[in-house]
Amino acid sequence: MSPARPKITVVGAGNVGASIAQYAVEKELGDVVLVDVIEGVPQGKSLDLAQAGPIHGYDSLLVGSNGYDETVGSDIVVITAGLARKPGMTRDDLLFKNAEIVGGVVEQVVARSKDAILILVTNPLDAMVQLAWKKSGFPSRRVVGMAGILDSARFRLFIARELGVSVENVTAFVLGGHGDTMVPLPRYSTVAGIPITELLPRETIDALVQRTANGGAEIVGLLKTGSAYYAPAASAVEMVEAILKDKKKILPCAAYLDGQYGVKGLYVGVPVKLGRSGVEQIVEIELTPEEQAAFRKSADAVRELVDKLKL
Ligand code: NAI
Ligand code: 2OP
Repeated sequence: MSPARPKITVVGAGNVGASIAQYAVEKELGDVVLVDVIEGVPQGKSLDLAQAGPIHGYDSLLVGSNGYDETVGSDIVVITAGLARKPGMTRDDLLFKNAEIVGGVVEQVVARSKDAILILVTNPLDAMVQLAWKKSGFPSRRVVGMAGILDSARFRLFIARELGVSVENVTAFVLGGHGDTMVPLPRYSTVAGIPITELLPRETIDALVQRTANGGAEIVGLLKTGSAYYAPAASAVEMVEAILKDKKKILPCAAYLDGQYGVKGLYVGVPVKLGRSGVEQIVEIELTPEEQAAFRKSADAVRELVDKLKL
């Protein structure tokens, strides 16, 4: 590892983890340690990715391991270890198995990287972030979950396609838990600054919202053997970049709420400011009573899972 480059550990060298490693080195965000329990897989994928370096032009170092010694002193640890959804499975079906996996991973990681920022990806996302925060003993600003960027990216794509405009013109916010109760916010979703509520009829927006909420299941239904990974990895890497470059970027992430949005003591998806210290601010936007009710329902669904884990 180069002392001059940030150190990014990615735990879980499956579809999402390997894609995170790929995007992170392609952007030369730092050196990457890839960890997985399957012998040879993190080593093989790291070497393969390193061999793409001369072609893509990156010098980031890549190391694969079945242990944690190589992760010492990581700046960021992205946790993707766990089971992914198969057809017919909900994210919640993964709860207990993935809690066991994530709990073990967090213990290993924090013992070696006391100042790291943890980004959780494993599902069910919001409950896994809460678990990681509890297990790590880290301040909540250094434990954050990826979901809102992905859900918002899906919404942005569907809006752009509906209107025949560039995805670059479209911004969108999806709040709440990463599950069926997520809360896409059409009022705060814009095309070149114009709210989509002024550009599209209600029924069309409702259909796009529905497709967004079902976005993960749509991909699972097509892939049949696993779940989405390109867009999830790109979303996690946007967080890594915002943190390492101290961009102070406003992004929807699963963050610890301590009274904001009327929720206390729970990780849920909200807009946050991401910078070198992690979650530097929870951004509170005004919600209509209808939106607030949907957000509360979503937070309640997260609370139910967290309670099942007795966190
Ligand atoms: P995958 O099955 O391709 O990869 C998971 C990897 O974790 C496997 O290589 C497995 O060997 C490894 N693993 C299992 N136990 C481990 C342990 N104790 N230590 C280290 N590695 C371990 O799955 P994929 O597609 O990469 O998804 C990973 C997770 O991310 C799943 O839980 C999935 O539901 C979740 N996910 C979350 C998203 C979000 O928006 N938050 C989006 C996409 C996926
Ligand atoms: C997704 O939204 C499965 O959570 C994963 O694609």
